[in-house]
Amino acid sequence: MSQYIHGSSQDEQERLEIQHGLIGGKAFLPPLTAKMWVLDVGCGTGIVAREISPSVELGKVIGIDIQEKQINRAIQRANKEGLSNVKFQIGKARCLEFLDETFDVVYCRFLLEHVSSPLSVIREMIRVTKQGGLIIACECKVDCCSATMPSLPHVKSALNALYKLQTMNGGNPHIGEKLGNLFQEAGLIDIKEDILISSLETPDQIKQYAMGGSRLLKASERELLKNGLLSQEALNQAYGEWEKFSVIPQAKASFKLCRVQGIRPEK
Ligand SMILES: C[S@@+](CC[C@H](N)C(=O)[O-])C[C@H]1O[C@@H](n2cnc3c(N)ncnc32)[C@H](O)[C@@H]1O
Repeated sequence: MSQYIHGSSQDEQERLEIQHGLIGGKAFLPPLTAKMWVLDVGCGTGIVAREISPSVELGKVIGIDIQEKQINRAIQRANKEGLSNVKFQIGKARCLEFLDETFDVVYCRFLLEHVSSPLSVIREMIRVTKQGGLIIACECKVDCCSATMPSLPHVKSALNALYKLQTMNGGNPHIGEKLGNLFQEAGLIDIKEDILISSLETPDQIKQYAMGGSRLLKASERELLKNGLLSQEALNQAYGEWEKFSVIPQAKASFKLCRVQGIRPEK
């Protein structure tokens, strides 16, 4: 059983929403058509589900997440935005509460890196997808938060400690590169793999990126210290480095994401 490490504080929820903008929003999804039924597994604050809802105006988008606070925020936002074809509910990725072959498209983003049995989750996603339907997963390529110019050595070692914590909790920060094999093992066909790159250069992007990185560490600070993975001094050095980076005029950063899609074969 895995334990989710980032929590659901308001800072973390905002981080997810800002990150969504920085990595290019819903671009990891294919074009959708009006009558489709779509499922977002591990939807967080529902940022993707809400963004795609107008594309499936005669269909439905459902988002599920294990954390109640994420679902509450997703519902609040959807109500505020007047979205009537989006629904959010608490649920577990390994046992989705939907009938077989319900959805046309089922996707997850930044979920499989946190679960102890990604193959079981993918199989469950396949179960609820119609024959001929599409399954998509998107995860960070290793070190996605530390590809910066100039480089940030203290941040890099703090992120390595965070990856260790994630592994100790049953996750796998390196899952991105394994997605294709997992999709194949799960029996999907027409598998396509891509790397999506978002380059960040404007002062505002750099500021948001640095703030996100800093919040990522902050959310796990207690656990990192408790497990002896990082000292307070090392954490402070990483925070300091993020802060300096956020105002460097020529700073650059990039997000690299592994994306894979596959089709559920007809019986
Ligand atoms: C990093 S967030 C990504 C949220 C969203 N997909 C996005 O791209 O912004 C991962 C989410 O997966 C949820 N999660 C983790 N393990 C889960 C599980 N076993 N079943 C359902 N949701 C899970 C967490 O609560 C969290 O909201």
